[in-house]
Amino acid sequence: MTDHERRRERRRILVTSALPYANGAIHIGHLVEYIQTDIWVRFQKLCGHECYYVCADDTHGTPVMLRAEQEGITPEALIERMHAEHQRDFGDFHIAFDNYYSTNSEENRELAQGIYLRLKAAGMIEIRTIEQLYDPVRDMFLPDRYIKGECPRCHAPDQYGDACEACGATYSPTELINPISVISGATPVKRASEHHFFRLSRCRELLADWIRRGWRGESPLQPEALNKMEEWFAAGLKDWDISRDAPYFGFEIPGAPGKYLYVWLDAPVGYMASFLDLCKHEGLDFDAFWKAGSATELYHFIGKDILYFHALFWPAILHFAGYRTPSRIFVHGFLTVNGQKMSKSRGTFITARTYLAHLPPEFLRYYFAAKLNDRIEDIDLNLEDFAARVNSDLIGKYLNIASRCAGFIHKAFEGKLGNLSHEDDHAIVRALQAPAGEIRDLFEARRYSEAVRRIMELADQANAYINAHEPWRMLKDPARKARAHGVCTAALNLFRLLTLYLKPILPATAARVEEFLGIPALTWHDARTRLENHPIRPYRHLARRIEPAQIEAMLAASRDDLGDKRDERSRTRRGQAQQPRTDALEKEETAVETITIDDFARIDLRVARIVKAEDVPGADKLLRLTLDLGGETRNVFAGIKSKYKPEELVGRYTVMVANLAPRKMRFGVSEGMVLAAGPGGKDLWLIQPDEGAQAGMRVK
Ligand code: MSP
Ligand code: ZN
Repeated sequence: MTDHERRRERRRILVTSALPYANGAIHIGHLVEYIQTDIWVRFQKLCGHECYYVCADDTHGTPVMLRAEQEGITPEALIERMHAEHQRDFGDFHIAFDNYYSTNSEENRELAQGIYLRLKAAGMIEIRTIEQLYDPVRDMFLPDRYIKGECPRCHAPDQYGDACEACGATYSPTELINPISVISGATPVKRASEHHFFRLSRCRELLADWIRRGWRGESPLQPEALNKMEEWFAAGLKDWDISRDAPYFGFEIPGAPGKYLYVWLDAPVGYMASFLDLCKHEGLDFDAFWKAGSATELYHFIGKDILYFHALFWPAILHFAGYRTPSRIFVHGFLTVNGQKMSKSRGTFITARTYLAHLPPEFLRYYFAAKLNDRIEDIDLNLEDFAARVNSDLIGKYLNIASRCAGFIHKAFEGKLGNLSHEDDHAIVRALQAPAGEIRDLFEARRYSEAVRRIMELADQANAYINAHEPWRMLKDPARKARAHGVCTAALNLFRLLTLYLKPILPATAARVEEFLGIPALTWHDARTRLENHPIRPYRHLARRIEPAQIEAMLAASRDDLGDKRDERSRTRRGQAQQPRTDALEKEETAVETITIDDFARIDLRVARIVKAEDVPGADKLLRLTLDLGGETRNVFAGIKSKYKPEELVGRYTVMVANLAPRKMRFGVSEGMVLAAGPGGKDLWLIQPDEGAQAGMRVK
C-alpha cells in the first residue's frame, strides 16, 4: 500500500507496550519504551485513525510471591500497590493508555486457561517428567536465580543457577557445585515433577511463514530481529516449559491441580485481557481485533531483551489457539546513561518518580524522541547533552518564537492576530506547512530523531524570518505598524505549526498552546489551515531552562548504597531462566571502578562503640546494634548474626558509615552501616580499630 493510500484510509489499530513487572518501580529505561509507544499512538490518533493503546502490570511469578512474603503482605496487596504507583508514574509522563490493566484479572485467567486448552486440543502440549532442584526446607522448586553455588567451569563461588558472572559460562542449576537455596540457605535436592511443554519445535514452518508473508508487504520484524530469528532457527527451536509447581503466584493449569501456568505464558495474554476489559467498558468488538484473519492492525512495542518471547512463542501460541498473529513487532534497544549501563552507585539508575521530582516530564520525552529511530540500537541519555539540547531546541528555538512575538500582539494589536496577505508572511507559513507529509511519514516509520531534526530546522527558519523582519523595529515606525502585525501573525502561525508537529512528543505543552491561541485541539489536518484575524490570550512562559544543579540533585537523589545494588543485580537476571536475554547489555558490570579522593571523602566513616546488641525477632541474619558515636547514638541493623552472639559484641569498638541515608527495613529504621570483612556466614570479621581509638573519631 502506498503512503498516499494509507493516509486516506481510517485504520483500526491496537498497540501495546510490554507489561512492566509488578515487583519494581518504573525507571527511565522503561520509559524509553512507553514514551516511544505513546508518541506513536498519539500520532495515529492525531491523524484520525481508530487506535487503542493497552498495557497492564505483569503480576505473576516467583519474585512477586517472595517479595510479598518478605514484606509480610499478600501478593494481591503488593500488586495492587505497584499498580497504583505504576499508573501514577505513567500518567505523570503523559503516557495515555486507553486501558492499564493487570494480568491478575478474571479476563486474563479465562483467556490464558482457554488458550492452554486450545493448545492442548491442537496437540501442541506435551507432558514430560523433568528433574529440578527443590528446596526441602521451603518446600518448593527453585527457579534458577534462587540457587547459588560454585561455577562448574571456573569454580568461582557464589554464582547463580543459570550462568557464571565470573567466566560467562551458562549451565543448568543441577551442575552447580555445592548449591544452596537463596531462599532458605538449605542444600537443594533433585526432585522429579511433571511439566507441561509447548511444542515450539513444531512451529518452525509456521514462524517462517509468518515472517515471509508479512503485513501488507512489510515484514513483521526489523532486519536485526530477522537475523536473530535466523540464528534461533539455525540453533533449533526447543519445546518450552510453560508450567510451574505450587507454590506459585499465578493461574492454575486446567485439569492439572498443583500446576500453574508459567508467568511468561499469561503475560502476553495480558495484552488481550487488557483490551477485553476496554471492550467491555467502551462497547468495542474484541473479535474484530483478535480473531484469526482479522483485518485490523496489531503492534507490540518491546525491548530487545524480550524478542524471543514475542517473535517465537507468542505468534506460535496465538496461531494454534485460533487467534490472529501480530502485524508487526517494534523492537527498541536499551537505555544507557552517559554511555554506561544505568547504575545505582553512579546515581544513574533513575526512577520515574525521582526524575519527576527534579525535571519536567516532557523534557525527557523530547530527548528520547530526538534519539529514537526504527532500529534496535541502544540509546544514550547523555545528561550534559540532554540539558544542552532541551535548552537550545525547546527553549531557545521553539518556545522563543512565541515569547518573542506574542507580547506585540497584545501591546500593539489588542490581542488579535492579523492576516497573512503579504507575500513574505504567506511564503514562510507555506514553507512550514509543506513538510507536513514528510514529517508524518517519519513519525509513522518511528524515525522520530529525523522528525525532530526536521522540525527544528523549521524552527530555525521561523526564527530567521523573525530576525530578518525585526517586528520590534517596525513597531517603532507608525508607517510600518501594519506590516509588524502581519509578521507577528505569521510568527504565531509558525509557532502553531511547530506545536502541531511536536504534539505527539509534547502533548501537555501543545494543550497549553491551544489554550493560549484559543483554538480547539490541533489535529494533523490543521497543518493545512491557518489562523488569521483571531484573538489570542496573553502568553505565559511554558518552560524554564534546565540548570545543571537540577541534574546534580537528581543524580544525588538516585545514588544509593550497595545493598540496593544487589537488588538491581537480581532484577536484571530475571527472565533469563527460559532463554538468555539476547545480549550482553543486561550483564552486570564486573570491572572494578576507580573513585576519586573526593568520592571517598563523601563517606563519613566513624569509630563507633557498640553499646547494645540484640536479636531481632523474625530476622535470621540481623542483629540490632545501638552504637555510640561520641555523644550521638545510632540504631543499626547488621547482618552479622551468623558469626556473632549479641553478648560478645557489647563494649567493642568498630567502624561505621555514619552518613548513609537512613533505610527503612521491616524491623525499623537503620541509621548507618558497620563494616566487616569476609564473604559472610561464619567467615565474617567485624572491623575493629586499634585500642585507644575513641567513639566518634573520623576514619580517614
Ligand atoms: N514483564 C516483562 C514483559 C512482559 S510483556 C508480555 C518485562 N518487564 S520489564 O519491566 O522488565 O520490562 C518492560 C519493558 O521495558 C521491556 O520491553 C523491556 O525491554 C523494557 N526495558 C526495561 N529496562 C530497559 C532499559 N534499561 N532500556 C530500555 N528498555 C528497557 O520484561
Ligand atoms: Zn565460572
